[in-house]
Amino acid sequence: ETVEWDPEEAGKGEYDHFMLKEIDEQPTSLAQALEGRIDPENGRIALADFGPGTFTDVSSVQLVACGTSYHAALYGSLALNQAGIRATALLANEYSAAAPPIDDETLVIAVTQSGETADTLNALRQANADGAETVTVTNVVGSTAAREADETLFIRAGPEIGVAATKTFSSQAVMLTLLAQRIAADRRGEPPADLESLLPALARMPAEIERVLETSDAAAVANRYRGSQSYFFIGRGLGYPVALEGALKFKEITYEHAEGFASGELKHGPLALVTPETPVFAVFTGQEDAKTLNNAEEAQTRGAPLVAVCPDGHPALETADAHLEIPDTEPALAGLLANVQLQLVSYYAADLLGRPIDKPRNLAKSVTVE
Ligand code: G6P
Repeated sequence: ETVEWDPEEAGKGEYDHFMLKEIDEQPTSLAQALEGRIDPENGRIALADFGPGTFTDVSSVQLVACGTSYHAALYGSLALNQAGIRATALLANEYSAAAPPIDDETLVIAVTQSGETADTLNALRQANADGAETVTVTNVVGSTAAREADETLFIRAGPEIGVAATKTFSSQAVMLTLLAQRIAADRRGEPPADLESLLPALARMPAEIERVLETSDAAAVANRYRGSQSYFFIGRGLGYPVALEGALKFKEITYEHAEGFASGELKHGPLALVTPETPVFAVFTGQEDAKTLNNAEEAQTRGAPLVAVCPDGHPALETADAHLEIPDTEPALAGLLANVQLQLVSYYAADLLGRPIDKPRNLAKSVTVE
């Protein structure tokens, strides 16, 4: 008798799915990403991946990416804007049809876990040809995108087997947050003022993710709202890309309809879809939360259950129907803790439905065609 032994399957260890294993790995993969790259004691970023003054001449940034990496790119573009640098995130597959103008002070950042996505490589090649300075933010050493960009920032997340990206999103968003500060510092010749609170918050993040993983009520929330007609995710500022990512993850692995919206946009159309059968997951980052709560309550008034993703003691909990708790941290990072809760909700919702979580139908880990 022979025993089937698949080395990939064996890598799952005690886990039923790679996705849950990879969600659980985030404290470690993030610590690995940050290793030697921040220096909280001296209030410095130590991104030795780039030589001194690499970004001194950068006056605007375009980030290009697809799928989950696009949501990380959007997160990075908002972090850059908040750091005073003009930045736009663009879908790589839209880039050839409508790229914004490039000049010799434009930096183009390709964000791609695999470094092999055809759409993203095309955008990167176009940017190179047009004379932009280019950086790739990737997980894969030796990948095509890493080889073709002027500079590379590796996210060091380790191999990700689940088709739905989880740990690599967290590491991409964190590394882009760090890179944003570095670009702003090079550009201005001095470190940005908010670094003092950001660096210790970054250092705390692996432990805070650990706390989310240990205490999450995501399984119960997934069970409570199973069988709903549609699942909405809302957030504002840095919570917006997290809402988009929450919805993408949910649709990828549950096959249920899910949609992410900017909180303030709900009332401009999507509210027409809201019923008691459409739970709304609201991401609170600590930035303009009162407005987000207002938007969420407009949906709740129409009968939608409200799931608040926020710290304990948050005003949203006075009205919320369910709570996914996150540690209280800087608005620059809170959305990434919320994202871990949303990853878990999607995972448990898909598991309840018996979906093939690691290999969703019709999807591939890396898409090498246009
Ligand atoms: C595929 C995967 C997504 C991924 C996207 C971009 O569509 O299914 O999970 O986000 O490609 O991949 P990349 O390797 O460029 O980050």
